[in-house]
Amino acid sequence: MPLVSPSLLSADFGHLSRDIEMLNQSECDWFHLDVMDGVFVPNISFGFPVMEAMARDARKPLDVHLMIVQPEKFIREVKALGAKVMNVHYEACTHLHRVVQQIKAEGMMAGVTLNPHTPVSVLEEIIPDLDLVMLMSVNPGFGGQKFIEHAVDKTRRLRELILRTGSHALIEIDGGVNRQTGQRLVEAGADVLVAGSAVFRAPDPKAEIAALRALAPHS
Ligand code: DX5
Ligand code: ZN
Repeated sequence: MPLVSPSLLSADFGHLSRDIEMLNQSECDWFHLDVMDGVFVPNISFGFPVMEAMARDARKPLDVHLMIVQPEKFIREVKALGAKVMNVHYEACTHLHRVVQQIKAEGMMAGVTLNPHTPVSVLEEIIPDLDLVMLMSVNPGFGGQKFIEHAVDKTRRLRELILRTGSHALIEIDGGVNRQTGQRLVEAGADVLVAGSAVFRAPDPKAEIAALRALAPHS
């Protein structure tokens, strides 16, 4: 059964406390917070003042996804939020090894995210140091996009790399995840599912979270 990390990007920003309370009462495992800078991705979402407000209400661990250039500038700020996971993009870090060590030194789980075009093989040398690898199954920047099918095979290849290298990294998948794509991703080896529109556009978001959480291989 996967962990489920609903993306607040699809929440109603006019009623954030209400949506956060819904997630607090749901079976979700983490809160996924998407930070965009309008440079690394062609959109801007929210920054630290908004996340501080979210963190005050949230009663589940925060899974912060930084879609920004130079994410190493904000390690202390993410730590100050009380985040459990800090996800940085492989494509945004020239000195990825240093960034990963700095995140771990702050006591957070170090996650590295790959865009759809980036092969899992680029992680070969660093994967033993990682706590989590997140695969983008859409091009980052927007919620509600169509799932890129190739992510299922990529998840399988990442699972093989993790087994072969003895890494303990969790596999998280972000973008276009719903019950159907989630089922196939869990069968391919996914540990954590991010879901934005699938949760917040569902008639019963809590039931949707429970359904995603109940997905199991070969069901
Ligand atoms: C996309 C974000 C995702 C997004 C997922 O750039 O990283 O976390 O909120 O939204 P859905 O689940 O609607 O594809
Ligand atoms: Zn995300």
